[in-house]
Amino acid sequence: MAKLPIFEYPHPILKQIASRVEKVDGSLQKLLDDMLETMYAAQGVGLAAPQVGISKRIIVIDTAHPDEGESPRPLYLVNPEIVWHSQEESSQFEGCLSVPEQRAEVTRYLEVRVHYQDYNGEEREMTADGLLSIALQHEIDHLDGILYIDRISRLKRQILIKKLQKLRREEENQ
Ligand code: NI
Repeated sequence: MAKLPIFEYPHPILKQIASRVEKVDGSLQKLLDDMLETMYAAQGVGLAAPQVGISKRIIVIDTAHPDEGESPRPLYLVNPEIVWHSQEESSQFEGCLSVPEQRAEVTRYLEVRVHYQDYNGEEREMTADGLLSIALQHEIDHLDGILYIDRISRLKRQILIKKLQKLRREEENQ
């Protein structure tokens, strides 16, 4: 496995609509493995292929809490699609590896059902609530060129982007 570079806002690949995967083969599985390793190394809960510069409809997620003694629960989703969602919504703070060290409250559906292909290309469906539901919606957004900061008010987005720019200036000056 290999760790991949993470592309950050405002890289244009993060705005692209990713293309569907035609076939789950060995090279795609290697990409899924590398994405998972990259996500774990960055201590993320989810990662979408556009975040590592690959415009394909693939995400990896693990919502386990290793600090609370939980074993890893990696999920690999190829061509994931929300086929149902609850009417009820919920707002929670989210972050994103492509928008480092920032967080904002985002409103999402409470529950979603997602159709996808797994690591072996098998068709599957899952229904999720809680953190997994949020992670699925956040990562599937990435495949459509949407960042969580696109789902907050313009004012909050401007403040957040200013903070991100300040952080980068500080890092450059170190
Ligand atoms: Ni993200």
